[in-house]
Amino acid sequence: PESNTGYSYDDCKATSDWLLVQTSIRPLVGIVCGSGMGGLADMLKDQEVFNYKDIPNFPRSTVQGHAGRLVFGTLKGMPCVCMQGRFHLYEGYSIQKVTLPMHIFSLLGVQTVILTNAAGGLNQDYEVGDIMVIKDHINMPGFAGNNPLVGPNDERFGVRFPCMSDAYDRELQQLAVDVGQELGYSDFLRKGVYCVLGGPNFETIAECRMLHKLGADAVGMSTVHEVIVARHCGMRVFALSLITNKSVMDYDSEKKANHEEVLETSRERANQLQKLVASMVTRMEHN
Ligand code: 6GU
Repeated sequence: PESNTGYSYDDCKATSDWLLVQTSIRPLVGIVCGSGMGGLADMLKDQEVFNYKDIPNFPRSTVQGHAGRLVFGTLKGMPCVCMQGRFHLYEGYSIQKVTLPMHIFSLLGVQTVILTNAAGGLNQDYEVGDIMVIKDHINMPGFAGNNPLVGPNDERFGVRFPCMSDAYDRELQQLAVDVGQELGYSDFLRKGVYCVLGGPNFETIAECRMLHKLGADAVGMSTVHEVIVARHCGMRVFALSLITNKSVMDYDSEKKANHEEVLETSRERANQLQKLVASMVTRMEHN
């Protein structure tokens, strides 16, 4: 992918208008599926599917475990749009490309964005297979100036200096806890802080220790950039991490992080995660 090419409001509008002509669904909920969690999109009824390569301006995804399709449909009557496969910084996409789908969601009329990801567990109480409701984030690339809102601000999307202390909607966090309880998931449902790094390598032991000391419960390579743009656009955000592996925190450990373990864990827990999200969606209220 080419480097740092931004999209104007008009570029985004052209893409959303193209989609709105092709589909009769007017989504209120936008979902982004993490590695191995693309099954969420398959739960949608009355599907209308677009391959990323056919959508004007859309990048394509390249990672194993990620398809490249935008799926419109309904979940128990709720109109939804679902990204089956997302874009990551480590693939070489500009941060504008990584977050373009959030601008499109916003222009499509989406009010609530749900994001899922696979993450390493830094919190020593976490087990492989835990589902973590994200209550806050640490944007490491942002500290180095790699933030999707860098550049001229278009007020049609949002304000120059958006607030991030309320990024993760409290009511939706509570809804996740309530629905999780009803589904019998309480034993493996957590709430914590997600830290994003650029990747693609997994963290060193020293990096894991540092991130844990800084207050992160889980570490990954996605989601935060999308959350920042979604909040900038005024959409409500809910996000979940599936803890696919425990971060290696000490030098005596023989364990090594690897993508196969990540995919294996998501295969095992994906159905439950999908059920949690689907049950939440059917209970959401929109204006
Ligand atoms: Cl251990 N680290 C990062 N950065 N991303 C991950 C992960 C670990 N496990 C799944 N995704």
